[in-house]
Amino acid sequence: MSTVAERRYVVCVGVHILDILGRPVTMIPPGQHSVIIDEIRATAAGTAAGASVDLAKLGHRVRNVGAIGDDMIGEIVVKLLNDHGVETDLISRMAGRVTSATILPIRPNGERPALHVPGANGVFSADDLTDAQLDAVVTAAGVHFGGLDAMTALDPGALAEVAKEARSRGAIVTMDVLRNGDSVSLRSLAPVLAHTDWFCPNEEQLLGLAETSDLREAAQRVLAMGVLGVAVTRGEHGCRVFTAGVDESLPALDIEVVDTTGCGDGFDAGFLTGLLAGLDPVAAAWVGTVCGSLIATGLGSDAGITGLDQVAGILEGLDESDAAVAALALRSVM
Ligand SMILES: Nc1ncnc2c1ncn2[C@@H]1O[C@H](COP(=O)(O)OP(=O)(O)OP(=O)(O)O)[C@@H](O)[C@H]1O
Ligand SMILES: [Mg+2]
Repeated sequence: MSTVAERRYVVCVGVHILDILGRPVTMIPPGQHSVIIDEIRATAAGTAAGASVDLAKLGHRVRNVGAIGDDMIGEIVVKLLNDHGVETDLISRMAGRVTSATILPIRPNGERPALHVPGANGVFSADDLTDAQLDAVVTAAGVHFGGLDAMTALDPGALAEVAKEARSRGAIVTMDVLRNGDSVSLRSLAPVLAHTDWFCPNEEQLLGLAETSDLREAAQRVLAMGVLGVAVTRGEHGCRVFTAGVDESLPALDIEVVDTTGCGDGFDAGFLTGLLAGLDPVAAAWVGTVCGSLIATGLGSDAGITGLDQVAGILEGLDESDAAVAALALRSVM
């Protein structure tokens, strides 16, 4: 029996960010005062890098495509990714640019206000895409586009052909976004969405992109653009899965929340893992749900998940038939 890691690789294309997180933070101290807090961490994060770490933990071979600067922060991002086994040779180092970074003072209830520098993510353009990067997308088993909306100099259309080719060779293609967009951002993503199997934004993002207050209507708008399905994450309220014939809500796990940074990336990684294991969308969404909820149990987007065996064990304990099916499928690919 082959392990997940022995099969072909997953490629994560999109934003790479160094997150510096501290908790608990209730206020910025006045003047030049300082306060002692419990914990500070640095993680490789962002919609592509964060999901890549989770996918690697779930046993996949993962190759990343994106951009960092030629600075120390970039070196730290690469080291953090490599430490998790993510391959970084296809990440462009942009001369004279800084690597994207975010400072996250995490509130006691797990909420995460953010102070962000877009850096290299915002200057990488279609002209910077290399043949090696494009080839890696075409031959992947899974392709996750993460945060193309935040790669403001990169016309997403430049990735449409490789997404189409990857899919025609049997890849499963997923997409998530970083920002809260509008109909203009949705239009710019349209060429890639047309060759995407699953779109996985959070609720606020989907409603913003579709410019409506009705989640079902918003999902239908994206389905009309050619995606197979939309898996919308809803934080502590779980997720909702839409296809042409499915509209199903799943609850989140009841966990003690430390920090919700990267929960969406965890969901994406689990969901794609489920789909690659051959699961139907609802069963795959259970894998996403468990992974998303695990991320919230610790500080940083790399918290909580230890491996496929852990996720399968949690799914087995849920007393849900789709979750049990998901656990069996995961065990069969371990
Ligand atoms: N407070 C919570 N309690 C339990 N599970 C949670 C909580 N917040 C998130 N999750 C799990 O993680 C999934 C994704 O969360 P969420 O909708 O917050 O993603 P997101 O906003 O895209 O996050 P990010 O952009 O930081 O990655 C949810 O569907 C749920 O399964
Ligand atoms: Mg998200």
